[in-house]
Amino acid sequence: MYTAHILVCGGTGCLSQKSEKIIEEFNKEIKKQGITGCVKVVKTGCFGFCGAGPIVKILPDNTLYVYVKDGDAAEILSWRRWIPDRIKVGTN
Ligand code: FES
Repeated sequence: MYTAHILVCGGTGCLSQKSEKIIEEFNKEIKKQGITGCVKVVKTGCFGFCGAGPIVKILPDNTLYVYVKDGDAAEILSWRRWIPDRIKVGTN
């Protein structure tokens, strides 16, 4: 069972802002951090904020990220508290 879902917009506007690359980065970072059974990345439809894309929404805490860019995945994941401590890696 997943503790969290990372929703990445796959609407036309966000796709044109390279949201597919963001999905790849999240999946790569999740694998790197060893949390594949804990966090799932889901490509969604449009959130309605196309001008601020790519859009990423985190569940269950409902945090919405706008203008997500290359390299943001690791930082976003590093701040997530829903990752159980027992499987956290690289934390202080
Ligand atoms: S296409 Fe992503 S918010 Fe509309």
